[in-house]
Amino acid sequence: MSTLSKKRYTITSALPYANGPLHIGHLAGAYIPGDIFVRFLRLNHKDVVYVCGSDEHGAAITIKAKKEGVTPKEIINKYNKQIKDSFEDFGISFDIYHRTSEPIHHQLSQEFFLNLYEKGEFIEKFSEQYYDEEFNQFLADRYIVGTCPHCQNEGAYGDQCEKCGTSLSPTDLINPKSTLSGNTPILKETKHWYLPLDKYQPWLEEWLIEGKKGELKSNVFGQCQSWLKSGLQPRSMTRDLDWGVDVPLVEAEGKKLYVWLDAPIGYISATKQWAIDHGKNWEDYWKKTANPEDESTLIHFIGKDNIVFHCIIFPAILHAHGDYILPDNVPANEFLNLEGDKLSTSRNHAVWLHEYLEEFPGKQDELRYVLTSILPETSDSEFTWKDFQARVNNELVAILGNFINRVMVLSHKYFDGKLLRGSVYTDTDQNVFEELAKYPGLIEQSIGSYRFREALSYFINAARLGNKYLAEEEPWKIIKNDEERVKTVLFVASQIVANLAVLAQPFLPKTATKLFEMLNLPQKSWDSAGEVDLLKEGQQLGEVQLLFEKITDEQVEFQLNKLAQSKIDNAKSVSIAAPAKANVTFDDFMKLDIRVGTILEAEKVAKTKKLLKLKIDTGIDQRIVVSGIAEFFAPADIVGKQVSILVNLEPREIKGIMSQGMILMAEDADGRLDFVNPTDAVKSGSTVR
Ligand code: 2FM
Ligand code: ZN
Repeated sequence: MSTLSKKRYTITSALPYANGPLHIGHLAGAYIPGDIFVRFLRLNHKDVVYVCGSDEHGAAITIKAKKEGVTPKEIINKYNKQIKDSFEDFGISFDIYHRTSEPIHHQLSQEFFLNLYEKGEFIEKFSEQYYDEEFNQFLADRYIVGTCPHCQNEGAYGDQCEKCGTSLSPTDLINPKSTLSGNTPILKETKHWYLPLDKYQPWLEEWLIEGKKGELKSNVFGQCQSWLKSGLQPRSMTRDLDWGVDVPLVEAEGKKLYVWLDAPIGYISATKQWAIDHGKNWEDYWKKTANPEDESTLIHFIGKDNIVFHCIIFPAILHAHGDYILPDNVPANEFLNLEGDKLSTSRNHAVWLHEYLEEFPGKQDELRYVLTSILPETSDSEFTWKDFQARVNNELVAILGNFINRVMVLSHKYFDGKLLRGSVYTDTDQNVFEELAKYPGLIEQSIGSYRFREALSYFINAARLGNKYLAEEEPWKIIKNDEERVKTVLFVASQIVANLAVLAQPFLPKTATKLFEMLNLPQKSWDSAGEVDLLKEGQQLGEVQLLFEKITDEQVEFQLNKLAQSKIDNAKSVSIAAPAKANVTFDDFMKLDIRVGTILEAEKVAKTKKLLKLKIDTGIDQRIVVSGIAEFFAPADIVGKQVSILVNLEPREIKGIMSQGMILMAEDADGRLDFVNPTDAVKSGSTVR
């Protein structure tokens, strides 16, 4: 059955952490796709609830609070409001924007935990964990830093060394320190409740891999497959933290639920609250029914970093509970980059939604349009201000806006805004109507397969059709000798405008509303799309409204300068951040044998995010070096590059590969890496001193 043929839908978009404002990457990941989909369902009279809310627990919140020297409560209140406002501003049409700090959510999360607990689903395990005696608390992984046993990086975290990419446990760290007090933590025994994901693996393989092959997007399917292939491990559903939902067991006093247990339950508690507010039954949207035909269709819109939680962990929880429906699909998007670089909150390399609206007031639909046309649906994609300008000017202004404006202005000029039928339709008119009638079906098909870029391109093609019709018919020329034909041409063109108003609704909500106003037409549902008599003879058109304006070179410059300025600010803060190390003797220095080498081959190390295996010509020999640079450089881009390499570093094994030496990279305070290489090619083997 096609995705769009069901009658009831439960649609979710990822709950953003309430620890910072939203940027364009958020919109392009989980919210624009979700909103287009939901608007489309509503236009088709489906029974749909679209839920979202702030994710207000987890280390993301407490770390931010610590950084700003305020309480977690202050953080979540501040950002919940800011985020909610941004969603409203951009027309993301949630039925409810809830919060995981609400009592109704805590209660439901605890009920879930207890349900699984009472069924004996959890494995109870004691383990030793680091504990800060001064702060009287167990330390979450990110609260412990120490020296990486693999690369000697002194700032490695309890879960990962960001320098060499190795994933770690806190007890792997050499010389661990608590980031709270700076003290050396002690090891203390603690008990936790684990979800046996390994036990659900066979079920997951059947439900997800066999059951959803061909339905899940390939990027999502691939990630799921690789998680399952590496074998699932039990995952602790409780944490020793002081911020979150209390574990509802007497013996677990002071412990909290794992944030990734409570967050997705947030979708359900949000639905409950919405149902209370609107006299609905929340269970209709979440519970299994005797007749599967009556069940709601659950779809999660998320970014790729959330795939495992929505495709594996949450479904396993729902499955273990037993009463709940499972996701029908999880159309996750990849990441959006900005001007050739990753979006980064800490480096302020972003287009913040609240700032965009101050700088481009009223231009929500312009950003929605551009982001939709570049959504990272199958691979990472890129936003640049030049491209933003080009798409707004060449598509929204020159095609859509221009066509509609000409129809409106000419109708007012020649016939005082009254639509007159004129002479009979010609073949050209009939052909244009036939073409037009194809678009609703095409758009529906694309939306139903989560191909929103394609859907939008059909929409703009429908506007192109109108533009072309008008340019060919040239009513401004024939008005002198054939007024009757001009009436017909404008009548036909107005029907195209009316269709554009209908078709625009999922993508450009503000524009669609304006169009209906201009046409003096009540908003129409999708059933009307493709009809060629939406406007009746004698209909009086409304006022002409400005739809889109050109983005100027100055506006683009301004934005580019702003990004350049944050780069400069970053560079400054970096130079303050890295204190000098203690002196070494010349003899010590001369012990290091550093050469210029040339990268001959490069490939990703399987099952790691950060590691590349490089084959390097050192002039002395050809050797293998494993290096943590995969996040910054694609293998294909660095073959042939010259690097400085420390050739007499003790060889060591990394991920089963013997690494012989280390390439030297420049690293900024955020851990960004770049090559330090000769400006002109030198012979491999040249010494560096
Ligand atoms: O990655 C994030 O921003 C999470 N706060 C998403 C949570 S989605 C859901 F499970 F709540
Ligand atoms: Zn390391």
